[in-house]
Amino acid sequence: MIPTRRCIPKLLRSSLFKLSLLDRISGSASYLIQPYREKKDDSSSNLSSIFQPVPIKSNPDDINVGAELAGTLRKADLLKILNKFLQQREIKALALEYGLDDYLQQQAYTSFRCYCLETKSLPVDLHVVISDILQGAGHVADIFPYFIRHAKQMFPHIECLDDLKKISDLRSPANWYPVARAKTRKIVFHAGPTNSGKTYHALERFMTAKSGVYCGPLKLLATEVFQKTNERGVPCDLVTGEERKFANDRLNPANHVSSTVEMVNVNQPYEVAVIDEIQLMRDQGRGWAWTRALLGLPADEIHLCGEAGAIDLVNSLCTTTGEDVEVRRYKRLTELQVENTALCSLSNVQPGDCIVCFSKNDIYTVSRGIEAQGTEVAVIYGSLPPGTKLAQAAKFNDVNNPCKVLVATDAIGMGLNLHIRRIIFYSLIKPTVNEKGEKEMDTISVSSALQIAGRAGRYGTQWEKGFVTTFKPEDLNTLKNLLTQAPEPITQAGLHPTADQIELYAYHLPNSPLSNLMDIFVSLCTVDDSLYFMCNIEDFKFLADMIQHVPLPLRARYVFCCAPINKKMPFVCTMFLKFARQYSQNDALTFSWLCQNIGWPLTAPKTILDLVHLEAVFDVLDIYLWLSYRFMDLFPDSNIVRDMQRELDAVIQDGIFRLTSLLKNSETGVSSGAAAAPDEDNFQLHTQKQHYYRGIKKDSGANVVGRGRLTERLLAQGLLTPNMLQELRREWTNAKNGDDHSNTDSSPTKIRRKRKP
Ligand SMILES: Nc1ncnc2c1ncn2[C@@H]1O[C@H](COP(=O)(O)OP(=O)(O)OP(=O)(O)O)[C@@H](O)[C@H]1O
Ligand SMILES: [Mg+2]
Repeated sequence: MIPTRRCIPKLLRSSLFKLSLLDRISGSASYLIQPYREKKDDSSSNLSSIFQPVPIKSNPDDINVGAELAGTLRKADLLKILNKFLQQREIKALALEYGLDDYLQQQAYTSFRCYCLETKSLPVDLHVVISDILQGAGHVADIFPYFIRHAKQMFPHIECLDDLKKISDLRSPANWYPVARAKTRKIVFHAGPTNSGKTYHALERFMTAKSGVYCGPLKLLATEVFQKTNERGVPCDLVTGEERKFANDRLNPANHVSSTVEMVNVNQPYEVAVIDEIQLMRDQGRGWAWTRALLGLPADEIHLCGEAGAIDLVNSLCTTTGEDVEVRRYKRLTELQVENTALCSLSNVQPGDCIVCFSKNDIYTVSRGIEAQGTEVAVIYGSLPPGTKLAQAAKFNDVNNPCKVLVATDAIGMGLNLHIRRIIFYSLIKPTVNEKGEKEMDTISVSSALQIAGRAGRYGTQWEKGFVTTFKPEDLNTLKNLLTQAPEPITQAGLHPTADQIELYAYHLPNSPLSNLMDIFVSLCTVDDSLYFMCNIEDFKFLADMIQHVPLPLRARYVFCCAPINKKMPFVCTMFLKFARQYSQNDALTFSWLCQNIGWPLTAPKTILDLVHLEAVFDVLDIYLWLSYRFMDLFPDSNIVRDMQRELDAVIQDGIFRLTSLLKNSETGVSSGAAAAPDEDNFQLHTQKQHYYRGIKKDSGANVVGRGRLTERLLAQGLLTPNMLQELRREWTNAKNGDDHSNTDSSPTKIRRKRKP
């Protein structure tokens, strides 16, 4: 026989969950649940919307003990009681005290009601309380503790908001680096325009020091300094995300190290540290790395090189560290003249010219236009492998090489030694990512106009005097205007949450996805915005979302999400996900696994899409190397991967050399290397095998009209999306219809200009 409610143990009836609302309000009873008290502001509901509710599972008990103790509850009665409870004003006020604003209350109420009505057996204590209320032996407010228990499971942050805020208090980043703070460092700022010898002078000091570190913005620059330093007879190691090179060997590190700024070790003391391009502290994505180096490097002397626009901010930051800044100003070593006429036609191109474009499409259009006149071009853009970039630069710089025209993106703004006589801006519009992570088409900044234009006329080369102009006459005044201005002063330096901070967050909110933790962090963090800003975390979140479903320990997940990935490349993203999955299964990512997944060996590109794919594969290998330094055991084949990269670099170089014929092939529909029937190679076999296993053959729309084998392959590989395909078709059709590419580009007149200088 089921016992009646009279038999309910006293202990259970008097449990702390059965305290009445009056007890609570009068404070006559002590209870464990401390209400959260915090200033509320207008943005609280915005903030609340960031907290994703944790799904609450219903009670798994088979036996409904509550019903056995207190009798079965009718759903209609239960609903009546719950509705009455939810309508109580006092309940709302109390819930607010616990940190549940209207937004959270609404979600918690709905969830609580569903939970109570849908669960097979209510928790016994709640069952008893409701039963008491129904029998007139209790008040609806007695449900509150159960409701708040439910709400806390849904929104665990309401119990630890103060802790979270403390963890994300970023108001004094200078204090994060006790080793540097224990010193009074000498800070020297080498300020001046491009080509004024800033880096030269800082490096002179670096090389004569007993120990030193160089922090550069790019792998290419770090490598150049590594080579130069060793050539001067000063042993120097190289540390980049994907590479380590040792002047001696890994067990005997040299006293000097050249590194990319993200990789610098802020626990290692040096005599001299050089931080190049310090103005990049303002970079929305990477700025945090310069801030960290400036505040954190425990060197006796810190030499900063960069735009004068960063002096004030550096001064202010150094006030927080209690250090003086010595500013050394430099003037341009060579003359730079803005021409009075635009280029107007590619037929006016001269030896020593570099045409700067801001999209790959323009690069293709321009290089094809120039080559059509029988002039050979060198091509440089960001996604080319370093070897290809260096080879193209060497070809262009070589006085004995007939190739005297360069077509490049703003990738040439930094890091490459180029002998340019004249810079020609093909357009002044560049896609940028704003603070919200949104893409915008915008006129280039004063700083980048100066940086790029400044590449013309390099000290010590055959073109000591530089010239600059635009392709379109209507852009010339804008350019002149940009170049007469001083670079925009930099007002804030970037910051980024550390792995430790995010780990602490995860400890408090164990059920929140990593990307949500980042959002919460950014929303709760306090930053001294007179000096700092929080860097854009969109790329990090993009990767976090992509691998959220892959089971990984938090540290590993965090590291994976820090990988430098171009999220615009679907193939790279797919491979990244596969890396994460393989890692999660504790399976080594071996050479043969990699070959299978990237379709190695690859053939020479026949079309532009082939080339783009090879560039993506190169990036995938880069990510492999990057991860291999963080997870050595599961990424064991870095040496072979480096060899693969070298081979691939050569294949891409060859593709760039034949760029015009690749463009022609793309337009005339010549199929890619993989589709070339006579030499059906491993690449195709591998790819087919992959297709087969992935069931792509079945799903990839074989009956879609107009899709050739190349298209199928690219679609199947995720390299091409249906939208991209449509876009390409449009472009090909336009090209076939005889569009004069030399006079069109992603025409600025068609694009919204956000800011006019
Ligand atoms: N005093 C010097 N003696 C010899 N070569 C010099 C001297 N100063 C600068 N150079 C050379 O001039 C070129 C430009 O100098 P450097 O790279 O230091 O300029 P920068 O101001 O850092 O410009 P950027 O904005 O390109 O970084 C380099 O090739 C450098 O080696
Ligand atoms: Mg420099």
